[in-house]
Amino acid sequence: MVTVKDKVFAPFIEKEQLAQRIAELADKINTDYAGRTPLLVVVLNGAFLFAADLIRHITIPCEVSFIRLASYAQTQSTGRVKQVLGLQEPVAGRDVVVVEDIVDTGLTMAQLVQQLWEQEASSVEIATLLYKPEAIRESVTLRYVGFEIQNRFVVGFGLDYDGQGRNLDAIYVLAN
Ligand code: XMP
Ligand code: MG
Repeated sequence: MVTVKDKVFAPFIEKEQLAQRIAELADKINTDYAGRTPLLVVVLNGAFLFAADLIRHITIPCEVSFIRLASYAQTQSTGRVKQVLGLQEPVAGRDVVVVEDIVDTGLTMAQLVQQLWEQEASSVEIATLLYKPEAIRESVTLRYVGFEIQNRFVVGFGLDYDGQGRNLDAIYVLAN
């Protein structure tokens, strides 16, 4: 058990499982994008550790860019997505792979994917470490999914509870 601020979290996905699965996702990307140079668009803050591990297993030429979005307040989705920091690199004509920590309602990804299409990306796919199928409200196609999880709040490995817990080296679930 770990305590983050006022809440207690239980072990959920071990670091070895994360490492193995992330390497598998990178292998799929290496195969799918062979002969191309994808632009990885990393969604800050939560995806920074996933992206760092993923990219070290990518062996084809690729580029990385960062975007910052937020829709969460503490442990509840607000249902609103605000773009905090815009994408600097032009995406027109690029094969974009969005790198996300977790897809919950899908609102964040649906909005970002639409923006990327409007900016004339030639392809857009999503790589997410975690996916909560029971929480989905907006349909999004998820090409690379690390783990499907129950609709419970998780922290660690980049994901936070009220700003803390990102430094945990595995995924923990809110205990109740
Ligand atoms: P939506 O609902 O738009 O939300 O798919 C995706 C964003 O919400 C955050 N999120 C979480 N953050 N533990 C977290 O630390 C969770 O269990 C969780 N569920 C959703 C996350 O920032 C994601 O990008
Ligand atoms: Mg996120």
